[in-house]
Amino acid sequence: MNRSIENLIKDYQREEINYDDIMLAINSFSESDRQVVITAMTEKQRTFWDDQLDYYLNLHPQLPLVEDHINDFVGRLMGENSNIKVMADLGCGYGKVTMIILNAYPGVEKMIGVEYAPSMIAQAKKHLVNFKNKLNLQGCDFSSGIVLTSESVGTVYSNWGIAYLGERDLLRMLKEIHRVLISSGRFGMSALIKGTKMAGLKRLLGVSDLLWKGKLIQAALKFEKRLKILFPMYTVRELVDLTEQAGFKVVDTNLTLRDRSVTIIAQKI
Ligand SMILES: C[S@@+](CC[C@H](N)C(=O)[O-])C[C@H]1O[C@@H](n2cnc3c(N)ncnc32)[C@H](O)[C@@H]1O
Repeated sequence: MNRSIENLIKDYQREEINYDDIMLAINSFSESDRQVVITAMTEKQRTFWDDQLDYYLNLHPQLPLVEDHINDFVGRLMGENSNIKVMADLGCGYGKVTMIILNAYPGVEKMIGVEYAPSMIAQAKKHLVNFKNKLNLQGCDFSSGIVLTSESVGTVYSNWGIAYLGERDLLRMLKEIHRVLISSGRFGMSALIKGTKMAGLKRLLGVSDLLWKGKLIQAALKFEKRLKILFPMYTVRELVDLTEQAGFKVVDTNLTLRDRSVTIIAQKI
């Protein structure tokens, strides 16, 4: 393997070069060399998510405003939405949002969860066991397409899932979502926004146990720093533009997590 390709891959694996810089560096490479680097990056990303089960189960839900974000996301996605019989959750993780929706909306008859991290899939099977008759859990990488027939799903959503894809894959993904949705079907996604900081996190914590507070803050800061190295981040404008380019009409946008995350709700037109 070309030495510079090998070094770039090693740097990314060690988290010493960030997503944007590595993409810039491979710009001048041949398509096949670019592909070698991108394949290695994809594998690193999958391993990253696979290692986050403990964080997602035990720390993430304790972070200030996460619960508010999820309630807001579900409310905007499901409110006034009559296309809920068949739904798909892309990057469903261990099924946190999936479970909230299945519990609150008995009208959902089929829920397709797509997830590629083995630890998350294993936990989702346990977490969602009471809904196993409604659940179709697909253990696959959604960036290579959604394994569903056209116009077969009423609502597709992705809470902090597909927005971690690179721009080319994200646009292709949005077009895929558009393809599988029924006419006037609904799409919702949330994404952390480019260039924001976790400032004020300490102030927001209402926990009295100082030791726990310290551990939580350290873990959250470390997690967010790693996200910003390993994945692309977008502005709200970029995400809205990509959603519209894929053929959707954006019907609602809202900022949560003190303006650090955006929720976009769109409709197939
Ligand atoms: C930030 S977590 C969010 C999990 C869940 N949506 C939630 O809100 O709790 C992102 C999830 O998307 C999954 N994911 C990321 N890229 C993926 C891909 N290309 N194919 C399938 N799953 C993916 C990760 O494994 C991870 O579980």
